[in-house]
Amino acid sequence: MEVHERLRETDPGARARRGELKDRVRQSIDSGVATQTTGELITIQTVVHVVYRTDEENISDEQVTSQIEVLNRDFRATNEDRGAVPEVWQGLIADASIEFELTTEDPEGNSTNGITRTETERESFGTEGNPVKYAEAGGIPSWPTDRYLNMWVCNLEGGLLGYAQFPGMPAETDGVVILHTAFGTTGTAQEPYNLGRTATHEIGHFLNLFHIWGDSDDCSGTDEVPDTPGAQGPNTGRPDFPHVSCNNAPNGDMFVNYMDYSDDAAMFMFTAGQVLRMNATLAAARAELAGLG
Ligand code: ARG
Ligand code: ZN
Ligand code: CA
Repeated sequence: MEVHERLRETDPGARARRGELKDRVRQSIDSGVATQTTGELITIQTVVHVVYRTDEENISDEQVTSQIEVLNRDFRATNEDRGAVPEVWQGLIADASIEFELTTEDPEGNSTNGITRTETERESFGTEGNPVKYAEAGGIPSWPTDRYLNMWVCNLEGGLLGYAQFPGMPAETDGVVILHTAFGTTGTAQEPYNLGRTATHEIGHFLNLFHIWGDSDDCSGTDEVPDTPGAQGPNTGRPDFPHVSCNNAPNGDMFVNYMDYSDDAAMFMFTAGQVLRMNATLAAARAELAGLG
């Protein structure tokens, strides 16, 4: 959210574009248009940029592939651990019908395995100025963001697991950035962030989902999704059901949602409302990427 705030202040067109997108998403949901495209399988061409200084940071192809496999389960609601969602929310578990494919063609039309590797002198990357997305700052620039989902994997500063850019923000820096120890399920991935859910969460943001507690600490915030209960703040670790806050008794916070802050082993679902919002967003702001226009 800090990165988002900064962009809203530095990019002159950002507020207007976000406002327009908000209207279009609402219209598409209210009119039923969003429902019509729900269920259509969308494949997103993906490139993973590995930016490393140490051998460890130069994660293996297998670690990258393990992350793509998690995404392809979580965004199709075929993740086996979804059975752990409390009974009261089982009916809300939804298939986003989105698949991710490591691209086989680079921007120049040459064949690729969808993974770039860039050696850097930087020990770690922060969010300010998006250094990992610029060669002169020790990173690598995005591939055209209207054709590819760009995922950078590196050593992030300050205990951050990952960050994303919401749709409607500057094209050049569009995409998600993930800490290498919170990426995929093998190699350098470390408990409790070794089930690939950081990327699931960040791509949720990339498709316009907000945190389920609405980023306030006084119950006034909203994620603009009707079927996720309001909550006072983030949940961490592996909470016990129910955790009641913000007038949400008896079921309480939906801490099993990918857009909370629970451990990887405690988040299992997007809701139907979140899926509708992602679908409406793809049509409104990421049509080319989604192969919809
Ligand atoms: N941006 C969040 C952070 O850095 C991501 C949290 C993801 N949660 C998870 N269980 N993987 O804290
Ligand atoms: Zn987040
Ligand atoms: Ca909600």
